Amino acid sequence: MTGSTNGRLRFPPAFLWGASTAAYQVEGAVTEDGRGPSIWDTFAHTPGRVLGGDTGDVAADHYRRFRRDVTLMAELGLPAYRFSVSWPRVQPGGRGPVNRPGLDHYDRLVDELAGKGIAPIVTLYHWDLPQELEDTGGWGARDTAARFADFAGLVADRLGDRVPWWTTLNEPWCAAFLGYASGEHAPGHQDPALALRAAHHLLLAHGLGTRALRAALPSSPSAAKVSVTLNLFAVSAGSDTPAAAEAVHRIDGLGNRLFLDPLLRGGYPAAVLADTAAITGWDFVRDGDEAVIAAPIDVLGINYYSPTVVDIGPPAAGPSPWPGCADVRFVPPSGPTTAMGWPIDARGLGRILRRVHDDYRVPMVVTENGAAFDDRPGSDGAVRDPERIAYLHEHLAVLHEAIEAGVDLRGYFVWSLLDNFEWAFGYAKRFGIVHVDYATQRRTWKDSAYWYRDVIRDNGITW
Ligand code: NOJ
Repeated sequence: MTGSTNGRLRFPPAFLWGASTAAYQVEGAVTEDGRGPSIWDTFAHTPGRVLGGDTGDVAADHYRRFRRDVTLMAELGLPAYRFSVSWPRVQPGGRGPVNRPGLDHYDRLVDELAGKGIAPIVTLYHWDLPQELEDTGGWGARDTAARFADFAGLVADRLGDRVPWWTTLNEPWCAAFLGYASGEHAPGHQDPALALRAAHHLLLAHGLGTRALRAALPSSPSAAKVSVTLNLFAVSAGSDTPAAAEAVHRIDGLGNRLFLDPLLRGGYPAAVLADTAAITGWDFVRDGDEAVIAAPIDVLGINYYSPTVVDIGPPAAGPSPWPGCADVRFVPPSGPTTAMGWPIDARGLGRILRRVHDDYRVPMVVTENGAAFDDRPGSDGAVRDPERIAYLHEHLAVLHEAIEAGVDLRGYFVWSLLDNFEWAFGYAKRFGIVHVDYATQRRTWKDSAYWYRDVIRDNGITW
């Protein structure tokens, strides 16, 4: 049961607290133990793609420092750690036999976590597609989905006895539309039709991957959970006009229903297929694909950072990640923002949770939530980040309210455990609750880390 006593909001007893990272963002060691290149190595090493020319070559050196980082997690009292397995470490070219030293690393990481009582929560695809698979078509190629299922099976064969919860994909919207439509992310294509094809193949990869996981994982009573993580959009209208309502409907279609409906309702939403018919005929969807994608999941992961406001009007310059939405204008935020320029409004998270609960009835976990601010150690060495604490506090209060309203929310993971490589922004944006000095790799707890340790200890926040 939840509760609120003595100014404290308590979460349900089994509520799972954790922190998240992703392989390319923290590991470094990109040529170690036979790892092959991923699309993010190629992209980051292409001049002009990542701010400051930053790459993930060293990152937070987590590959080498994982034991010390697990000790840090234990000191935080972290019950769960969500990390991703780098596909090109396990299969350097994306296909074929296992590269044992690469998979051994995750075996050791899982054992290290288990030894400290921390649940390992594994994401299989957090955007680091093996470059060789991109060279044969990437997510535009149907074969990539089958290769992903092989990879999922190989990892589950090895770690399945110790990992209680698996996530196939992280944020397929980003992988498809930032990677293949706007080109802001690897592999950097700017082709809306290819992006829609990629979205389908990512969803198919999820379905085939789920099948492979179920086949490889131990079955009940200790059945492992299978999930997928979506970045859902809390989209609202910038004006009280039918045109703005139409813009909301289209962005909700491409950002939310395009993923939620096939995963949880058995098929693509007709309105989205119609809205994008001028871009693609969706002929890459074959008979039976939708049934594969709709394979039951146990929990839905949700990543949430900020709300989105749209209207109709002149679009921003440059290629858009929203195929067919050139007439949609993203209204700039007016209130407080994070260092990313993203508006801070926790109510969007509440709206998403209630909507998914009402429309899709699936248990949920917030697999990422957090904020970037310009954190710097002070002269006393401490890193004061009151804005991050306020941000996290506000979002946890909204979660508590949603649970009280009957939403089936099982856990919360802060993004991120450590400062890390923030994709196209490189190291310029710091999301960690633990500060990383990249010159020395020294870790320093920010105030938010101490605060989060207390939240976990108390299973709640003060109010
Ligand atoms: C979501 C992504 O999963 C993660 O990799 C990224 O760093 C955060 N958003 C912040 O942008």
